Amino acid sequence: MVAALPFQERLADRVHGMSAPERMKIPKTIVLVGLMGAGKSCIGRRLAAALGLEFVDADTQIESAAGCTIEEIFERHGEAAFRDGERRVISRLLDQPPRILASGGGAFIDPATQKAIRARGISIWLRADLDLLLRRTSRRNNRPLLKRGDPRAILQDLMTQRYPIYAKADITVDSADGPPEVTLDRVLAALQAHLAAPAPAGGAAGAER
Ligand code: S3P
Repeated sequence: MVAALPFQERLADRVHGMSAPERMKIPKTIVLVGLMGAGKSCIGRRLAAALGLEFVDADTQIESAAGCTIEEIFERHGEAAFRDGERRVISRLLDQPPRILASGGGAFIDPATQKAIRARGISIWLRADLDLLLRRTSRRNNRPLLKRGDPRAILQDLMTQRYPIYAKADITVDSADGPPEVTLDRVLAALQAHLAAPAPAGGAAGAER
């Protein structure tokens, strides 16, 4: 369990009339989706602390399961093998009690992984603009896809390919260029609205769409 962050109570008190984060009943695992650098792990950790849930990072789980880094999986076995492992790991995590799951940027793009997330989780797309993604991803050098050429051009291409797919997530939140608490507030508010909204007609909870 990730330790509660200092702002937890203050944030929960002021976000949209919510007096305690526990009051938000989370029925399914919340899966953060979006491009590399969108803030999925950073916001995921804070969201988990605010809601008193466990945080788990899919990429870290894949690395533990494989016994090597994602870069090594890509190098030794190729992207398709990585996607296989990602599919299995995310499916296993979705079978466990509700928590906050940061997925890798390509997870929601894989049709089977997306189907599992849509059926068994609540997806939140952290949308960010190109400059923000570029700035954030430049801080680390461990993303194989960004080493295939000019990172700006690659991220731009991925935005074109993937944004229409991420848009199928249950909730979309713009990742703020500033303190993570700003984005966290947006996520909490959007989540609260989503959970309060009546279920879509004919759509039983947990049904595959
Ligand atoms: C990928 C994103 C990475 C990681 C892998 C592939 C992608 O995760 O899963 O390098 O296809 O966008 P982050 O989005 O957490 O960097």
